[in-house]
Amino acid sequence: MRNVPGNSAVVACLLVIMLGVTAAADTIGGGDIIFTPKNAKEVIFSHEKHVHDKGLKCTGCHYQIFQMTKGSYKMQMSKITKGDFCGKCHNGIKAFDATDEQHCARCHK
Ligand code: HEC
Ligand code: HEC
Ligand code: HEC
Repeated sequence: MRNVPGNSAVVACLLVIMLGVTAAADTIGGGDIIFTPKNAKEVIFSHEKHVHDKGLKCTGCHYQIFQMTKGSYKMQMSKITKGDFCGKCHNGIKAFDATDEQHCARCHK
């Protein structure tokens, strides 16, 4: 009968781990990243939407495109439209095209 308390301890441990994972998944990368450019409306980057809804992997962006620290770069729009930063994907191929006037407001809100 020694197994019984052992098993419930394992179950309790698993529950703790699962709860921990759920809590962490709610705030991937600390949640939304908000950029506040001087001459444009703010841009909200949602980890939730990119990782959960679109199924992108952390390694798809970190560290090839972005560091894992907010504000690591001076991201100008001219660099994005040339295919850097968000523009690596937002080029009309992998995701909506950042150079298209119709799409400005999808990022700038
Ligand atoms: C589509 C691209 C993309 C994906 C995928 C992505 N991230 Fe990020 N992440 C970013 C951007 C953009 C920043 C902000 C970088 C900056 O401002 O220089 C960032 C920043 C972060 C930060 C720093 C937050 C802060 O407040 O300093 C952490 C931590 C992070 N990401 C973790 C993750 C983890 C973990 C995953 C996978 C579960 C992930 N990211 C997937 C784009 C991405
Ligand atoms: C994929 C998201 C995205 C789209 C689409 C987008 N932008 Fe941006 N934009 C950004 C980010 C990110 C920054 C940099 C924010 C920061 O770091 O301050 C930025 C910055 C800017 C700036 C600030 C000055 C500069 O040169 O960096 C202007 C102006 C701007 N965008 C205009 C536009 C216009 C006009 C469009 C549509 C043709 C557009 N943006 C579409 C993400 C986007
Ligand atoms: C690794 C590829 C990748 C990078 C880098 C990336 N995105 Fe995206 N993003 C996507 C994909 C894929 C979608 C979904 C397809 C679409 O909407 O065209 C998307 C969707 C979005 C959406 C729409 C979300 C919604 O459904 O409401 C916004 C806004 C956005 N991205 C902003 C950004 C900004 C800002 C950056 C840079 C800080 C960025 N993305 C960098 C791949 C990327």
